[in-house]
Amino acid sequence: MKKNLWLVIVFLIGLVVWFVVAPPRFWANLVRRVEVTPAVGAALVEKRDCRNCHRIEGSGALVGPELDGILSYKDPDTLRQWLRNPRRVKPGTPMPNFHFSDTEIEAILAYLGTLSAP
Ligand code: HEC
Repeated sequence: MKKNLWLVIVFLIGLVVWFVVAPPRFWANLVRRVEVTPAVGAALVEKRDCRNCHRIEGSGALVGPELDGILSYKDPDTLRQWLRNPRRVKPGTPMPNFHFSDTEIEAILAYLGTLSAP
């Protein structure tokens, strides 16, 4: 009886860690539903430090491509797939999976859509 209780506790802790560290899409969509506006997208880009690898609005590193104007030459659906899970699109890419919710991805695309190519 006591042993089973421990198993249940370990299972629940595992579940919580999983949902916090790598939330499944349905969960991210439930708990992180944001307003789809360029301002929200810009705040996410700031918060998740995209500029560590991308130049955006003229500042940031060039580990990955410059993102200004990217929507003028890349199809939004490809970028959606990419933001959902970079390594599923390109195995071995240094870009991490941020576990964005669908609305967060739309907000980021709305923001990137406001930036024109340099
Ligand atoms: C650790 C570095 C790193 C970080 C952090 C990072 N990226 Fe990337 N990203 C890359 C690299 C590198 C590529 C190019 C793909 C490749 O060659 O692996 C890329 C590609 C992309 C692309 C696709 C570009 C294309 O031409 O298809 C988008 C969109 C993008 N990143 C957006 C973001 C956003 C938004 C963030 C922040 C939430 C971010 N990235 C954070 C490294 C990074």
